Amino acid sequence: MIRFAAIGDVHCWAEGVGHIRPLFERVNSEADILLLAGDLTTAGTVREAEVLCDELSDVKIPIISVLGNHDCEENQEAEITRALQSHNITVLDGNTAILNIKGKTVGIAGVKGFCGGFDKYAVEAFGEQALKSFVHASLREAIKVEEALSMLDTDYRIVLLHYAPIRETVVGESTELWPFLGASVLAKPIDALGANVVVHAHAHYGSPRGTTKTGIPVFNVARTVAKGYLLYELE
Ligand SMILES: [Fe+2]
Ligand SMILES: [Fe+2]
Repeated sequence: MIRFAAIGDVHCWAEGVGHIRPLFERVNSEADILLLAGDLTTAGTVREAEVLCDELSDVKIPIISVLGNHDCEENQEAEITRALQSHNITVLDGNTAILNIKGKTVGIAGVKGFCGGFDKYAVEAFGEQALKSFVHASLREAIKVEEALSMLDTDYRIVLLHYAPIRETVVGESTELWPFLGASVLAKPIDALGANVVVHAHAHYGSPRGTTKTGIPVFNVARTVAKGYLLYELE
């Protein structure tokens, strides 16, 4: 049995030394992989990312991550990625990680994702250029999901996102916020190509689980929703 732990929105901060470490005290014995679903930092600084690396220094299982919107705030995504990678934390952005665990291959397709809204209320690329750019940013993220998933020929396939791909897991948040919490376009390639499970974060007050249109389980692992990390067994 292969088990992963997943959590997002840890939102490390520069003075927060010692605050995150206790969350992961048991993760080495409870899980085979740790997935971080973005918003690793509060204000998107390298210093905050370094605090996180230090807080995770006792975690010995593979750590696979995507960035979230907070990690983009200072336009230092590349520097944050390098800081994490220098501490053996894999950061995915439209690519994949493949792990060999207990004789099985586990593939992770990781993408930050973006906003845009859900189903018939999704924002459309019509009218002003600014609105078209917004929608196109979402479509580009969906293409990254498609490209990453199509590369995975593993026994298990996990999709790791920051933004929500379905409406169900943002329920609980104000409806006015829903278009900014995720986008259905992210779920289209997942339904087309298949996956065992999807995890995302970002909706701090959303719902813990839902399914895509084809029935793939989706978990909102925002720290406040998962109450720590989610533990999930791949079957
Ligand atoms: Fe967050
Ligand atoms: Fe976020």
